[in-house]
Amino acid sequence: MKELPMTENKNYYITTPIYYVNDKPHLGHTYTTIACDVLARFKRLDGYNVKFLTGTDEHGLKVKQAAEKNGVSPQGFTDSVSQNFRDLCGFMNFSNDDFIRTTEERHIKACQHLWTVLVERGEIYLDKYAGWYAVRDEAYYSEDELSNGADGKKIAPSGAEVEWMEEESYFFRLSAWGDKLLEFYAAHPDFCLPETRFNEVKSFVRGGLKDLSVSRTTFDWGVPVPGNEKHVMYVWIDALTNYITAAGYPDDPDMGGFWPADLHMVGKDILRFHAVYWPAFLMAAGLEPPKRVFAHGWWLIEGEKMSKSLGNAIAPADLVERYGLDATRYVLLREVPFGNDGDFIHANAVNRINNDLANGLGNLAQRTLSFIYKNCDGKIPTPAELTDNDKALLKKVYDDMLFTVRIELDNQRFHKALETIWDVVNAANVYIDIEAPWSLKKTDTARMGTVLYVLSEVIRCLSIIVQPVMPKSSARLLDQLCVAETERGFDCITKSSALKAETEIPQPQGIFPRLQVEEKAA
Ligand code: MSP
Repeated sequence: MKELPMTENKNYYITTPIYYVNDKPHLGHTYTTIACDVLARFKRLDGYNVKFLTGTDEHGLKVKQAAEKNGVSPQGFTDSVSQNFRDLCGFMNFSNDDFIRTTEERHIKACQHLWTVLVERGEIYLDKYAGWYAVRDEAYYSEDELSNGADGKKIAPSGAEVEWMEEESYFFRLSAWGDKLLEFYAAHPDFCLPETRFNEVKSFVRGGLKDLSVSRTTFDWGVPVPGNEKHVMYVWIDALTNYITAAGYPDDPDMGGFWPADLHMVGKDILRFHAVYWPAFLMAAGLEPPKRVFAHGWWLIEGEKMSKSLGNAIAPADLVERYGLDATRYVLLREVPFGNDGDFIHANAVNRINNDLANGLGNLAQRTLSFIYKNCDGKIPTPAELTDNDKALLKKVYDDMLFTVRIELDNQRFHKALETIWDVVNAANVYIDIEAPWSLKKTDTARMGTVLYVLSEVIRCLSIIVQPVMPKSSARLLDQLCVAETERGFDCITKSSALKAETEIPQPQGIFPRLQVEEKAA
């Protein structure tokens, strides 16, 4: 067994962005949370004390306008939409430990405390703001960032319409933090991934930072600014603070040992907020920035971004109904290198499921376990002496697989982690064809027993390591091998936890159904 990297702190804190409640949850939101769920489960199985946070971002003009359009109060509106996101967690089998809403008391308290600290430290001051504001993006843009729309209206780079706004505003002294941010980036070369996106962040900061307007007076659906209730906080300072609220700020100075967060997972569109503004707010308040921000790509549909306005969003429930929950989770993380954009193509999903799950892992388990059930009295056979071929396969499983997968996942390379696991699946399928237990049945039953034992052991370890991605299917596989619930952690991917020979197994059931070809046409 290779030495495991030593970690001084066995806590692991991972967060999703908190989702705007002006939209129904779609594939894009689900994707971010699936990725976090996989990492949270992986770390728990690897012995960490995990805190996995998700939630909803409920303030701001956009939400207020959406509530008005629906003829309900902002609170009533956010209550119902936030519940959709909470329900999605159950439906997608997310293992979040907390679900935060920015309208909760604990959060309002944390925001106001952070604000007060920033004022006391001279980091926030009152002035006047005038500029081009896009309601859709909740952001101001400078003149040179705008283009002219078809009807002569000015358009932000995001495509949102902007309007001229003038208001009294509090400002955060972001301009004073440029050099300190650059120093922080230099000292933490893995702070932001993928690297290309980190480079964009650095050049943005090198280009010079302006002070940031952090309050609004034009609407009241937000966290009131302490001591000046004409103002509500800018939605991003409010939203970003959720990550420390959930860790126990401000009451618990140690934040339960969960700060700095290990990973903020975000979409590429909101990287600047997380990699520039957030570390600056935190440093200005005397708190540590998070350890990493990973910016993933977008799922596109026929080359277009998914959105409510385009009406092309894929509902997570549709995919789950079509492919099953675990297969959906697998496909989303396997199809596209994490970090890149991807076009969702149903025919590719069907191929992936049939090749990797039905023919790959599913077939490996089904043919091994059915063969044992029929030919070995339904008991895991007792192995005889192992050949070099047996040892080579087991070495991959015991020594190399988890070691490599750990490194890949610590860098959020989900596709590479899965590729590593499926190299073992493929090697085991090659092994079964070469060793041909069905022929050994007639010539050498002792050797047949050894081959089947080695295969069962490989399937056991594969089932343990795929748990984070496919929790339900892997549980069924482990049940079929009679592996106890307490023997499913990654510390059991060792020879010393190997299957006990002569264990009686139940009649095997197929786990990954093959999808019908006609589904490809849709
Ligand atoms: N409320 C802010 C985040 C505040 S975090 C302190 C927000 N919310 S959002 O609902 O608009 O988006 C949440 C996440 O979903 C973002 O990371 C965004 O990139 C992601 N996705 C939204 N559409 C997406 C796709 N089509 N594909 C992949 N992810 C995308 O921004």
